[in-house]
Amino acid sequence: MRFAIVIMAAGKGTRLKSKRAKVLHQIGGKALLEHVIHAATQIVPPQDVYVVIGHQGGAVQSAVSSLGVNFITQAEQRGTGHAIQTARQAVTRYEHIIVLSGDVPLLQPETIASLRDFHLAERAAMTILTAVPADPNGYGRVLRKSPGSAEVAAIVEDKALTSQQASVREINSGIYAFTSNSLFQLINELNTNNAHGEYYLTDMARILVQEKQRVVGIEAANATEVLGANTLAEMAELDAAMRLATARKLMAQGVTIYRPETSVIDSGVTVGPDTVIEPYVQLLGDTHVGESCRIRSYSVIENSTLDHHVLVQNGCILNDSHAHAGAQLGPYARLRPGSEIGEDAHIGNFVETKKTRIGKGSKANHLSYLGDAEIGSGVNIGAGTITCNYDGANKHRTLIEDSVFVGSDTTLVAPIVIGEGSYIAAGSSITEDVPADALALGRARQTTKAGWATSRRAQVRTTRDIEKGR
Ligand code: UD1
Ligand code: CA
Repeated sequence: MRFAIVIMAAGKGTRLKSKRAKVLHQIGGKALLEHVIHAATQIVPPQDVYVVIGHQGGAVQSAVSSLGVNFITQAEQRGTGHAIQTARQAVTRYEHIIVLSGDVPLLQPETIASLRDFHLAERAAMTILTAVPADPNGYGRVLRKSPGSAEVAAIVEDKALTSQQASVREINSGIYAFTSNSLFQLINELNTNNAHGEYYLTDMARILVQEKQRVVGIEAANATEVLGANTLAEMAELDAAMRLATARKLMAQGVTIYRPETSVIDSGVTVGPDTVIEPYVQLLGDTHVGESCRIRSYSVIENSTLDHHVLVQNGCILNDSHAHAGAQLGPYARLRPGSEIGEDAHIGNFVETKKTRIGKGSKANHLSYLGDAEIGSGVNIGAGTITCNYDGANKHRTLIEDSVFVGSDTTLVAPIVIGEGSYIAAGSSITEDVPADALALGRARQTTKAGWATSRRAQVRTTRDIEKGR
């Protein structure tokens, strides 16, 4: 049990100007803190991860409690140094401590591992993960003892930089490894003589160096990984970076993505090879797409599964649904939670489904509402068919057996069973069960009045003539 990981996540995130705690803001479809915990638990088991919470601590804890990590409450947020002072009791028994920031979400486990290995190899008291990003403004800068040296003299916060120091491009990522003994022997030396009146963890570098302890820096291979999210604009940049990385990973696995910069794909989404994703598609949450599918523009698919060879036409919205192999959806289909579309089935334009299973090869091609329904295979649902599933108080089920033909503009008043192979005449309102192989008609009989229109036209002319005094 040599390493603990402490994640600092107690701060308010004043610069976001948001009511929500910073670490609960999302990029790539997950909270910042969730990303950091996922990286941490690739390095040490969750029971060795300690999250320092404070601002909206309850909400933060419940958002990530399922990940099995420990929580430490920093009731008053008096700086990053104070956050680690608060964690002292919980982690002092570990030989080494890795400190991560809850607002640096792109960090990869491999980078944490190389920080750990460098720290051990250098036998350092403190090892700082550094980077040289395109724009170092706003970050603390790392002052090396001499150019090219592994050793660090101090970290200077952005606001405290002298004009000479301002030209230093190497930044502090806010991610460190410490040897516990050295850290906790001297952590009480921190003071609040700075622009924010806070205990800065960054000051440990200078304090340790003064005590002749070894402080080193290792530059991250990829500067993007250590970018922090302090404002909503930075949050948007990190979100775009993460989604682009997800899109690239999928492309490397054989997925065609046109205009990947326009697609919004959450990090947990999987897509099979030879699938084509057109511009402006969103694949969100726990969504899994099979091989050789095509997802056309402006479709939004959340927590749903598509098997192989599924075609999603433009503008479809899917939530918590499942489409089997060869199914075709849309354009403009809406699959609400609990929709299961069978193999080779078609759900066409302006068709809405909810808690409905549709069997193999069945078709509902136009303008329908199918809710709380179980529909067999080879069924044809005519345009404008509605399951009347709600009586104002309760929901009721509709069962349509195999090979049924439902004519257009039919209302099916649930609970109701339409027997196998039966026909429903167009325009029917069906309120009673239909036995297999029957024809059900539920509409007023048509009356046709010969010559009615001619006599009406004659009458209209007469009235007008009278009005005009003719
Ligand atoms: C910090 C570093 C800066 C570095 C930057 C990298 C300090 C003083 N500065 O600045 O050198 O370049 O990170 O991103 O450390 N937190 C607590 N308790 C507190 C205060 C903060 O848990 O009392 C947490 C925050 O929630 C956040 C993290 O610590 O997750 C960093 O705090 P933040 O205020 O964002 O520090 P920066 O100003 O970004
Ligand atoms: Ca920060």
